[in-house]
Formats: sequence, structure tokens, C-alpha cells
Amino acid sequence: MNDPRVAELLEFVRIPSVSAQSVHAADMERCADWLVAKLCQIGLEAGKEPTPGNPIVLGKTPRDPSKKTVLIYGHYDVQPPEPLELWTSPPFDPEIRDGKIYGRGASDNKGQILAHILGVGEALAEGPLPVNVIFLIEGEEEVGSGHLADFLEKHRAELACDAIAISDTGMAADGYPTLSYALRGIAAMEVRVFGPSHDLHSGIYGGAVANPATAAARLIASLHDSQGRVAIEGFYDDVQPMQPWERKAAAESPVSDQAIAEQAGVSELWGEAGYSSVERIGARPTAEINGIGSGYQGEGSKTVLPAEAFFKVTFRLVANQTPETVLEQARCYFEKHKPPGVRLEIIDGHGGEPFFLNPKGAQGVAACRALEAVFGKKPALTREGGSIPILADFQKILGHPALLLALASPDCRAHSPNENFPVENFFTGIRLNKALLQELAL
Ligand code: BES
Ligand code: MN
Repeated sequence: MNDPRVAELLEFVRIPSVSAQSVHAADMERCADWLVAKLCQIGLEAGKEPTPGNPIVLGKTPRDPSKKTVLIYGHYDVQPPEPLELWTSPPFDPEIRDGKIYGRGASDNKGQILAHILGVGEALAEGPLPVNVIFLIEGEEEVGSGHLADFLEKHRAELACDAIAISDTGMAADGYPTLSYALRGIAAMEVRVFGPSHDLHSGIYGGAVANPATAAARLIASLHDSQGRVAIEGFYDDVQPMQPWERKAAAESPVSDQAIAEQAGVSELWGEAGYSSVERIGARPTAEINGIGSGYQGEGSKTVLPAEAFFKVTFRLVANQTPETVLEQARCYFEKHKPPGVRLEIIDGHGGEPFFLNPKGAQGVAACRALEAVFGKKPALTREGGSIPILADFQKILGHPALLLALASPDCRAHSPNENFPVENFFTGIRLNKALLQELAL
């Protein structure tokens, strides 16, 4: 693949901009610098804006007051690549196989945001743009966008816009145009379980001292009831039931249970009784254990009664749940159901509210026109399970819901080993950007 645009994406993916790992601090700066150079190269005025965390990259066309302004958001940070041994080619030494670029961040979000940048670049090379464009590309999305809301507040006037476009979601099916009109919110928590003051001999003390690993396991196991519902008291109180039209749309979704099972590599699906998989993922709240640890992890056996255990949990939220309420409910639940003999330390993590866009509004319709023009098919309207926490702040501070135009393929393996982005989606994304700017100018 000799296309210079692909070479640029490979270069971008090669920078290991892992926001969760402090060893990559210098790579974050390098990645932001790379983007600033790219934005300047296509003819925008661009710079790196410091935050208390990773810098935010801004790129702008000169503001022509007679034109509308479109803000395009993306993120240059990526998830940790581990476990490394499960990658066919190294995560930060990308490789193209069967028309797909394999590397951490290829889909989420480097390929998708670079498609927009190059789309604007090509359009600029052809003549003046139909709209003013602002690129806002942050480096902390994968760790909860902790410094972006503040930045939006401070730069409210500079970032004033008429529409917000984002490609950071997945297509309903391969090559299928998709407008994601709802995303789930998120609330993260870590629970530490403390028992004896030090690791004990499990024969000398076992039976008389509570085991923190067992206590953690009991708390985790009790989080769901036999119907797959989250057992936390009050968890569903604020949940808005799906409307009849949404259940109908979910029933007509091109996403099949079989496709979900195949992508996930499971023989059987599981979830809350009374809902289809598409509904369980897009429209119902969940509790998911993301990490768990305690005791001896090395080779062979070690008869130890560990002093502590921990687990990390995230809740996915739907309208009208809020992260604050759910974290409080979870805290009460864990304290109330904690087995005797251990002590808990509960640490609240990041949070983000659920997102909803009326796809039948003027902007939704314009985005659908652009998708249809490029793909030659009517777009699927989907609710997705992932979260982009800053969307609620975009709505509150900049006054617009985001248009989520998916470019990742359903099997992109975001956050997993062998993340990939089809070269075709990259090129389609470049064309989509140009169509979108035209449609949003109207
Ligand atoms: N691009 C994803 C969000 C996404 C993925 C939305 C698929 C819809 C479908 C984003 O980069 C992401 O992974 N966000 C995190 C946010 C969290 C770390 C605060 C997520 O959803 O886990
Ligand atoms: Mn992403």
C-alpha cells in the first residue's frame, strides 16, 4: 500500500500515546506535536494547548463570520496495548494485512480522526471550505477527559460553533453507514478489601480469619441477580424505559446475535432477561468488572491468606442515570453487603453522562444525507454501548449534541489485542468528511 495517506496513519499509530501509563508522558507530547504539524501542513492554524494533564490540540481555519462553524472532535490517546503476547504484529509497529491496518489506536481513534484531518486537507486543496472548521483533539479521552470540560469553559468563545462532528464509534455492519444517536454514560470505581495486617500462612490462620479474596469474590458475585439484572438497590430507579419505536428499531437492527457472538469469540451470549443483545448493549445499564486481584500470582502454589484484594468496576449508564447517584448507590451496596471480618476502601473514578441526539432533527438529517451520499445506502441509526464522557459537556457548554458518524468496523477490536482499521474505511472517512462539511453548510 503506497498511498501516502496510509503512510501518514502508520506514522501516527507508531507513537505510543498511552494516556493511562505515566511512562508514556513524553510520547503524549510527541503525539500532540505530530498532530499540530499535520494540521499546519494542511493549511490550518494550529497549536498545542497545555492542561494540567495531556495537551489539547487545536487547529482552525480563519473564522469567516458569513459561514457556519463545524467543530470536529477526536482523541490522540490510546488504551494500553497489554497483553502484548496476543498481538500478531506489535501494537506500535503497525502492519497492513488483508486490507486492514493493525495497531493500537488504528481505529480508536487515530484512523478516524486522521480521516477527518485529511478530508479537510483535500477539500482545502480544492478551494475554500463551505464552513469554518475547528479541530479539537484531546489526549485524555481514554482516561475520562478530566481536563477537557474546564478547557471548554475557558475557551467557550473561541470554540463557538454550529455543529459538532465526531468519528469515534463503530459501524452497525461492515461498510454500513451508521449514525450513532445514543451512547451510554459511565461511572468507574475501585474497591479495595483489607483483612489481616500482612499476608498470613493459610494453614496457621485459615478458618479463623476472613479472606479478603473471598470477600471480594462474594461482593462481585452478588452484583447480578439470576436474571442478569444489577442487584444494587435503586440502580434502575432513574432508568428511562425504551420507547416502543426504539424497541422496533432495535428489532430491525442489522446487528445479529450471531455476529456479536462471533466478534466476541463466545459460543453463547448472556445478559439481562427480557432484552435482545442489541438492547442490552445500547439501551440498558450494566455493571462490569474490569480488573481483579489478590494473593499469589506466580508459578506453582503458595499457601497464603492474602492481606488484601481489589477489584475495578465500571457501570454503563443510560438516560436518566447520573454517575454521582450510581457511585453513591454502589458504595452503599458494597458497604452493606460486605462480609464480616474485612474493611473496604472505595475510590470513585471518572464518570460521564449518557448521550442522546434526536436523529430526526435538522443536524441528524444533514449527517444522514452525507452518509448516504458517500455510502450509497440509507444509514442505520444505532444506540451504542461505549461512552464518550465529554459529549454531555459539549451539549452544556457549546450548546450542541454531537453527530457521531461511525468509521470503525464492528470487528475493529478497540481496546483489545489486534485492533485494526480497514484502509477502505479510512478512505471512505476522508470522502465522508468532505460530504459532511457540504451538508452542514446548508
Ligand atoms: N471510541 C470509544 C467509545 C465508543 C466505542 C463509543 C464504541 C461507541 C462505540 C472511546 O474511545 C472509549 O473507549 N471510551 C471509553 C471511555 C472511558 C474510558 C471513560 C469507554 O467507553 O470505555
Ligand atoms: Mn475512542
